[in-house]
Formats: sequence, structure tokens, C-alpha cells
Amino acid sequence: MSKSLNYLIPTVGGIALVGGLAVASMHRNSGESEIASLKQRIDQVEGHASAAAEKAAAEAARAAELQAQIAEVQAAAETRMASADLTAPAPQRDGRFGLGREAHPEEIAAWDVDVLPDGRGLPEGSGNVFDGEEVFAEKCASCHGDFAEGVDNWPVLAGGFDTLARKDPVKTVGSYWPYLSTVWDYVHRSMPFGEAGTLTADETYAITAYILYSNSLVDDDFELSHENFAEFEMYNVDGFVIDDRPELEYAEWRAEPCMENCKEEVEVTMRSVFIVDTPPEGGSVSHMNTATVEGLPTFTSAGPSFIPEAATKPAVQETEEAQATPASQPAEEAGGDAALVDAGEKVFRKCKSCHQIGAGAKNRSGPQLNGVMGRQMAAVEDFKYSNVFNTAGEEGRVWDEDSMAAFLANPKEYMNGTKMGFAGLKSDEDIEAVIAYLRAATE
Ligand code: HEC
Ligand code: HEC
Repeated sequence: MSKSLNYLIPTVGGIALVGGLAVASMHRNSGESEIASLKQRIDQVEGHASAAAEKAAAEAARAAELQAQIAEVQAAAETRMASADLTAPAPQRDGRFGLGREAHPEEIAAWDVDVLPDGRGLPEGSGNVFDGEEVFAEKCASCHGDFAEGVDNWPVLAGGFDTLARKDPVKTVGSYWPYLSTVWDYVHRSMPFGEAGTLTADETYAITAYILYSNSLVDDDFELSHENFAEFEMYNVDGFVIDDRPELEYAEWRAEPCMENCKEEVEVTMRSVFIVDTPPEGGSVSHMNTATVEGLPTFTSAGPSFIPEAATKPAVQETEEAQATPASQPAEEAGGDAALVDAGEKVFRKCKSCHQIGAGAKNRSGPQLNGVMGRQMAAVEDFKYSNVFNTAGEEGRVWDEDSMAAFLANPKEYMNGTKMGFAGLKSDEDIEAVIAYLRAATE
């Protein structure tokens, strides 16, 4: 639109110029020849003017045409919106709007770096074990070790062949990776760590050959090139299966999903906690602690963080528990109300993850509780109590019915600063019962 206006301006200018020249000639009243030449020039200017007018008309027509095209595209877009088929591929760009350009071959080449298992995509080149060792020593060994055995916690690239079926397999390039192309591609694109993209093709061939050698998969005179690349078969090439779940499994799940009351009862069966240890040699090791759910304490952000001791192996725990949990016999001997003690034993499940009581009871994250009723506070010798507990012990305070009830109702309030990460028992009945149990269960 604006383009066609621009072309109209010279037209108007031309006409103005014609008027101006006519006036000038009248004033000067010059000779015949000058009049003739002026007439000639007027003809010329008129010629220009009409040419410009023609051009403007053409431009206007062109503009109208473009306008029509825009309308067409908009209409098409509206139709697509209306039919809501927005996933259909966009129509081919016809280039008429001058948007974008064809990508240069160099640009495509720079992006097109992937290498396929059959060697497609590899650049020409080669490299042998010998050269590979040199480059590897210079650029990779600081992290991966001279023999690709891995330094500290950096990845191991060699060995682990007989470990794949184990619970803790050592997955290395040699033992695990199914295709050599992955090695070439990965190393070429992302290593050395922090200096990705600096390796030449030949260096990458040489390093790949050396990694194979350090895995004892080739001899020391091996040379790898784009030509023999596809022939090389990795150790674990058959260790992967094609993911056929989309065909075999998804169909089975297509039934209307249940969104409400889908399970009669929901139960937490396990809770896991990550424990981070600092080994003597430094660094950190984290491992999963699957504590039993029974009597799990409440976790609060305010309280000291509590981590239950790692569950012992089931067989061992059985015997430990059998030892630590007394039969109901002693209850009667102790003269307690058997029903109350039974109820107390159930309540004690909430304490069990931290406390043991009965024959063979040991300190866990809380002290063992044998004889705790009537005992001085903080009296278990080899247990590290919090300061508030130690002070209470030094003051000679004793666990009796009242102090225990108050403590169990709200440990943090009664013993401000305790490290017992337990929110407290809500009901007085539970407190009474568990106290009866503490008396009865004592060895
Ligand atoms: C600064 C330390 C460092 C250097 C130097 C280094 N790498 Fe690595 N490499 C790493 C780290 C870290 C990873 C793991 C990266 C990840 O998992 O994202 C890794 C991963 C790898 C892996 C994949 C291992 C696997 O099993 O997943 C290969 C192969 C590898 N590097 C080869 C090389 C080669 C070849 C060189 C030398 C050209 C090199 N690296 C240099 C730190 C390094
Ligand atoms: C999250 C772990 C945890 C739970 C659950 C827990 N306790 Fe404790 N308990 C401790 C710790 C830790 C201490 C030591 C407190 C201190 O030093 O501040 C302790 C101390 C005690 C003491 C004082 C022992 C002494 O020698 O003075 C008694 C009694 C006690 N707990 C009873 C219970 C009872 C009963 C329950 C269950 C209703 C329970 N605890 C639940 C961790 C726990």
C-alpha cells in the first residue's frame, strides 16, 4: 500500500514542475528557440509523468493483488481454526512473502553431526590405538585414568564385563554400550568435559580405538576408520530390547481410567530416607534407609531431623524383635492390667522405630527403655542425650507417672530442647496404656 503511494508522489511533483516552467518562460520572454526547447522539455516531463502514473497504477494493482492474497491466507487460517484441525501440518511456504531463506549446505552440515550405528554420518578419517593412547593421556586421563579405569568418582570407561547381571552392575563403554557409534558421537560432541567440540575427527577415531583397546576388545595394532567402523561389534550389542510397549502394552491401559475411590484401602507400607555418610577418606556416600513404617515418628520441620536407623536384614530383625519383645507373661507377673498392657503395646509401635524395651533391648536412635519407670532421667550409660536431658539427670529428676505422662503428651514442651523427634501422644488413654506397657515390658 505505502509502496504505491510513494510512486504517486513523483507524478504530482512532475505536474508541479510543468506549471513552474510555464510561468518562468512567460516572465523571461526569451527567443523562439528557447521556447521550442522548453516545449520539448515539457513534452519530456509529461512523458515522465505519464510513465510514473503508469508505474503507480501497476503498483496499485500489485498492492491489490497482495491484499487479495492476504485475505486468502487469512480466510484459509480461519477455516483451519474453525475446523480445529490444528495438528495438521502447516501448508508449504510458497516464498511469495519473502520470509526465511534456504539453509546453506554448510549450515546443514554443522547441525548434521549425528552418527548412526551403521557408520552413517561419520566423517572420513582414521586413528590407531597408539595415537589414541597419547591423546587420551593428554586430554582424558586426568579424569578417566590412564587406562580408562576412572579417577576418584569420574566415570570408569573400561571393564565390568562380568557384572551386568549383578545387582550393582559396572556399566562401562566396554561392558554396556551396544554401539560403537555412540562412543564416537558422544566423545566427539561432549568430551573432554568442559572443552566439548575441540577434538578432530582423527583424534576421535584414535581415542575410540584406545577405549576399545583398554577394554581388551582390540589388539594394540588396531586402527579404526570410517571404513571399518561399521564392522566392529560391541560386547553388549544384544543386551538391549526394542521398546515395544506402545504396541503391546498401551492398548491395555486404554480403558476408562478410574479417578475416584479406586482402592478400598490405602496404606503406607514403607518410607525411605536418604542417609548421607562421610567416609573417613572424604567425600560422601548416600544410601537408602528403608525404615519400617510401623510406628514411624512424625517429622516436623521445627524439630531436630530424625533419621531412623537402617532396617536390619529381615532374618536378623526377626530374632532381635523376638528377643526384645516380651511375651505377655511378664505383664501378669508385674501385676499390671493385661488389657491395658496390650493396648500399651500397640501404642508402643509408635516408639519402636527409636526405642527398644525388654530382654536384649539396645539403644537405637533413642535409648533403650528397660526399667525407665522410676529410673533417673537420662540414665542409660552409653546413650548420648541432649543437654536438657543431661541436666534433668544431673538434677536427679526421676520418671514417675506424672513426669512421664507430661513428657509423652508433649515432649518438646516438657523437655524444651530434646532431640526426641516425636510429636507426642494425643490421648490420655494411650499415655496411660503405654506407661503400663513400659512397666510391664521391662526385662
Ligand atoms: C574434567 C574431567 C573429564 C575429562 C578431562 C574428560 N571427561 Fe569424559 N566424562 C567426564 C564426566 C563428568 C562424565 C559424565 C558426564 C555425564 O554423565 O553427563 C564423562 C563421561 C564420559 C563418557 C561416558 C561414560 C559413561 O559410561 O556414561 C565417555 C565415553 C567419556 N567421558 C570419554 C572421555 C574422553 C574420550 C575424554 C578425553 C577426550 C574425556 N572423557 C575427558 C569427565 C571428564
Ligand atoms: C523419633 C525417634 C523417637 C520416637 C518415635 C520416640 N522417641 Fe523417645 N526418645 C528419643 C530420643 C532421641 C530420646 C533422647 C532424648 C534426648 O536426649 O533429648 C528419647 C527419650 C525418651 C525417654 C527418656 C529416656 C531416658 O532414659 O531418660 C523416654 C521415656 C522416651 N523417649 C519414651 C518414648 C515413648 C514412650 C515413645 C512412643 C510413645 C517415644 N519415646 C518415641 C527418640 C524417640
